[in-house]
Amino acid sequence: MVRRRTAAIDEIAERKQAHLDLCLREDVEASAKTTLLEQVELVHEALPDLNLNDVDTSTPWLGKKLAAPLVITGMTGGTRAAFKVNRDLARVAEEAGIAFGVGSQRAMQSRPKSEWTYQIREYAPSTVVLANIGIGQAQEMEVEQFQELIDALGADALCLHLNVAQELIQPEGDRSFAEGTKVFRRLSRKLGTPVVAKETGCGMSRRTAERLYAAGVRHVDVSGAGGTSWVRIEALRAPETDRLGTLYRDWGVPTAASLVQLDGLRLYRIASGGIRSGLDVARALALGANLAGAALPVYQAYQEGGLDGARNFVTELVRELRVAMLLTGSRSIAEMRRAEVVLGAKLLAWKPKRRPAKGRR
Ligand SMILES: Cc1cc2nc3c(=O)[nH]c(=O)nc-3n(C[C@H](O)[C@H](O)[C@H](O)COP(=O)(O)O)c2cc1C
Repeated sequence: MVRRRTAAIDEIAERKQAHLDLCLREDVEASAKTTLLEQVELVHEALPDLNLNDVDTSTPWLGKKLAAPLVITGMTGGTRAAFKVNRDLARVAEEAGIAFGVGSQRAMQSRPKSEWTYQIREYAPSTVVLANIGIGQAQEMEVEQFQELIDALGADALCLHLNVAQELIQPEGDRSFAEGTKVFRRLSRKLGTPVVAKETGCGMSRRTAERLYAAGVRHVDVSGAGGTSWVRIEALRAPETDRLGTLYRDWGVPTAASLVQLDGLRLYRIASGGIRSGLDVARALALGANLAGAALPVYQAYQEGGLDGARNFVTELVRELRVAMLLTGSRSIAEMRRAEVVLGAKLLAWKPKRRPAKGRR
């Protein structure tokens, strides 16, 4: 029994390491699909009446003040190498005053001894830190177990990640998702810490977001299609799934389309999935996002240039955002979110057409 458990734990660690390796070696992004952020034209302000120094990128979240509306979204944990990544990216986040999320804490659950590989609070003492677990495991967990994941980090919120497409491609992945909404409802009622419903690269429709809202969720990370494709990564890892992987590599609601779908809902919105520049961040904000998030480019910059590589990537993102803010005459993030935009036809096609039917399909 003990041996079987250890084998399963090693399998999780190996799988997480394989994911990280593939993200450096292979093209793991969507192929034909884009985020549709290129369909958002920010209207130029030729007369901004504003100095670059007056542009303020700070924004509140979860009772804290971020220096810029950004989050390094969850990637890893569970091994010594993963700890190093978490520690260094947490340092970068703290320095830049942006939020930081650890990867799935599933390994920590199976092996409490690996808890330290997620414990980065001392490196990010003041910024927003996010715990993370998948909906597959969450269905089998008690509320106290979620609390343990949060307490281990001193986290400000818990990301409950939705990765159904990834699980379906993974030969050993979960196949049961029937209790998903119930988990969110239970946690919204019983957990004292906010929950972020987080996709992992397939985006979110209005219908899903409305159901999450009804279940008590107030924060979502749409993590849309057009960036990292988990279908692609799993197919690279398990060649027997090649056909499925090719067929579904681009599956999902593009990031910009997810924001258009969620327009007007009373949800705090993180836009991730294919955010690669500060202009992408600005466009996402103009579509109503509160924050933007990135995973793959931060990891790649870190692996290529170490701590400085990741630091420079984040600094560049903020610099590019500031330029977009000045060029749209936006003094604050609130103003950037109200910036004038012209949307392309492909993106407009995602506008909700009618009041969606109540309840489930
Ligand atoms: C190497 C790597 C590992 C990831 N692991 C997790 C994870 O454990 N939990 C999670 O919620 N998302 C995970 N993600 C998904 C990201 O947080 C993000 O939602 C997705 O990759 C889209 O953003 P991107 O296009 O900037 O990479 C991972 C992404 C990468 C690149």
